Amino acid sequence: MAKTASLRLDDKEYPLPVMQGTEGEMAIDTRALRATTGYIAYDQGYGNTGSCESAITFLDGDNGILRHRGYPIEQLAQFPDFGEAAYLVIYGELPNATKRREFGLLLRKNAAIETQMQKIFEGFPKDAPPMAMLSSIVASLAAYYPQLATNNFEKDLQNFDLAAAMAISKVRTIGAMIYRYQRGLPYVFPKQELPFCDNFLHMMFSEPYQDYVAQPEVTRALNLLLLLHADHEQNCSTSTVRMVGSSAANLFTSISAGICALAGPLHGGANMAVMQMLQSIYDEHDDGSRFIAAAKSGSKTHRLMGFGHAVYKNFDPRAKIIGKACDNVLKKLGINDPLLDIAKHLEEVALKDDYFISRKLYPNVDFYSGIIMRALGIPVNMFTVIFAIGRTPGWIANWREVAANPKGRIYRPRQIYVGPVERNYVPIAQRA
Ligand code: CMC
Repeated sequence: MAKTASLRLDDKEYPLPVMQGTEGEMAIDTRALRATTGYIAYDQGYGNTGSCESAITFLDGDNGILRHRGYPIEQLAQFPDFGEAAYLVIYGELPNATKRREFGLLLRKNAAIETQMQKIFEGFPKDAPPMAMLSSIVASLAAYYPQLATNNFEKDLQNFDLAAAMAISKVRTIGAMIYRYQRGLPYVFPKQELPFCDNFLHMMFSEPYQDYVAQPEVTRALNLLLLLHADHEQNCSTSTVRMVGSSAANLFTSISAGICALAGPLHGGANMAVMQMLQSIYDEHDDGSRFIAAAKSGSKTHRLMGFGHAVYKNFDPRAKIIGKACDNVLKKLGINDPLLDIAKHLEEVALKDDYFISRKLYPNVDFYSGIIMRALGIPVNMFTVIFAIGRTPGWIANWREVAANPKGRIYRPRQIYVGPVERNYVPIAQRA
């Protein structure tokens, strides 16, 4: 018999249906709550609210588990191929060799941006925040490819494969062009023969007179980084993409909104903040105790960046993988980065400190990712752009779930109004 929950209000009993996910996650279905009781559920920050059913990513924050389409992140990370992970996240299955080749080809064919789009870059100040540039330029894709961005679910789904490939490939190209623009360097155009990550590194670091050829360790590290960011369930930016998409907005517009949400320091922007924190500890010859003490003050503006997570109350499995990869990459590239030692020391101290233990605060994905990016030659202000390139498949897959759901509704939460009660308008001459 189907399980039901029961809610008692003013001596009246209301049965509420119970839902169960494939991994045993339980939920009380409150969709009819307001209609039947007149009450709404209050859940600031949505920490107890399931906003959708999704078949993309399973996350168990208490046990540090992350799986994409059923595959544990630890297994996917052993074969770091971002293109394969993107395909899996978007289409639900690992591609066979033919499908992987075809997908790679589609990405390569759609890497370049329209010549006219270069003019958008020139309108930005040279020191504009890269994420502000990225979100605007990605939004403009809806103007350059209106046939793929009709704001009609049926039509946009018919062109989904092409729009998705364009989004993944062009977000990366735009990211590399932002890097070149800010430095006053000539743009380097994508090469059809290069795989995804090598092509990104080529667009970032080649010069007209000399090609940058990535060492295999560098390509592997970038593939791993992007793969580890490919999707992460209903986080702030992904929920934003779903929310914007729920109004029938097209894929490019929805992704652009996701980029805006990702930029904040409590979300994707944390990878920059971690590096700034480590650098400042290094510059001031501190041992990190000042940052730890400030973080323990409880102030929201002095948190230990790269620590804590809205859903992981255990080790973030991605942080474990990145922490190990950090050691390997630096060793293979022969780099000795003092910031890695500072990060390790901070982690060691925090994990023994009661403040962090009692609140279940562990290193998250952003804690070590910046050190790898730095080793690859990526400047700090581009870190969140790399996160965005990695997260694009997750945004695409989530947008598609929204667009393809025949029972979908526009996202429209309610609120508890706490402002003034009704009062009468007073003409300006009569106001005190
Ligand atoms: N440093 C110090 N204290 C912290 C931290 C931190 N990094 N994170 C949480 N706390 C404290 C918080 O002040 C609260 O203390 P109290 O119970 O005394 O009020 C307690 O721990 C519980 O925190 P919370 O506010 O309920 O946590 P949250 O779920 O709202 O926030 C978070 C999650 C990720 C925004 C937060 O941990 C944080 O600000 N971390 C630093 C920023 C960061 O690294 N963000 C990247 C997240 S992972 C990448 C991504 O997917 O976005």
